[in-house]
Amino acid sequence: EAAVLNDAPRSDARAAAPPRPAPARRALLMCAPDYFGVDYIINPWMENQIGQAALPRAQAQWENLRGKLAAHSDIAFVAPTPGLPDMVFTANAGLAIGEKAVVSRFHAKERRPEERLFCDWFEAQGYSIAPWPENVPFEGAGDALLDHARGIVWCGYGWRSGETAPKHLQKIFGLRAVALKLVDPRFYHLDTCFCPLSGGWLMYYPAAFDIASREAIRAIAPVEKRIEVGEKDALSFACNAVEVAGRVFLNDCSDDLRSRLIDAGFMPVVTPLSEFMKAGGAAKCLTLQLPGAASTVMPRE
Ligand code: ARG
Repeated sequence: EAAVLNDAPRSDARAAAPPRPAPARRALLMCAPDYFGVDYIINPWMENQIGQAALPRAQAQWENLRGKLAAHSDIAFVAPTPGLPDMVFTANAGLAIGEKAVVSRFHAKERRPEERLFCDWFEAQGYSIAPWPENVPFEGAGDALLDHARGIVWCGYGWRSGETAPKHLQKIFGLRAVALKLVDPRFYHLDTCFCPLSGGWLMYYPAAFDIASREAIRAIAPVEKRIEVGEKDALSFACNAVEVAGRVFLNDCSDDLRSRLIDAGFMPVVTPLSEFMKAGGAAKCLTLQLPGAASTVMPRE
């Protein structure tokens, strides 16, 4: 197993320890589902699911995902907190590129108390926190996906993140931000329907975007690099995938999508996450990419 960056996170750790340098190589941030559950409704997946997520099964599914990812990546952990059932979805902690991090400004008031905790975590790891305008909602890597092959950041807006968020990200990180409008409430975060993969591949569900955004995607990603998925795969959150070292970890995958991913040179790894689907999240939502101190993305402009 790859090294674990901070094994048993304690809330008092940051008071005592000086800030550490940001991780030197790419890692993933996760948060154990000790207090996970569907306790309120802030997306359509959560409707009729209050109290329905089985915690032991969720824990087993999360542990299975963690174990699979840990074989190929460093994993860092942020301490789970009672009363914050969605904190497991660390994709929404913020966006970290190089030594800088932006902390999310949650649209959902239920998740706003997570902001301080994620901010503390980024600070304790040595990231410098970029200021973010109070009135612009932004839900982190749920709505901002780095495309390493192109050196750009794809941004989703319309449900959780504000239309001006991409402009602010572009300024803060010095990377071109491409704004995509999300129009289907079931695909309320960009990472629920869009997944840049290495080598310039792009797996996504076109119907989640307005026409102009579909055109923008097609203008940037050539047809031979696009893996457009159908509604069935989209609804099983196939696009909510984490890629590590050529492996694509995802909740579920049709035979057709499986063979297209294999043809593109990836190895799909199914890791069922039914309990987290009840909250509207799957593999990608449960992780945050930490690019490390030396940014793996080269700004273009
Ligand atoms: N229940 C959570 C919410 O609605 C799920 C978040 C899923 N995260 C994601 N990156 N798509 O905020």
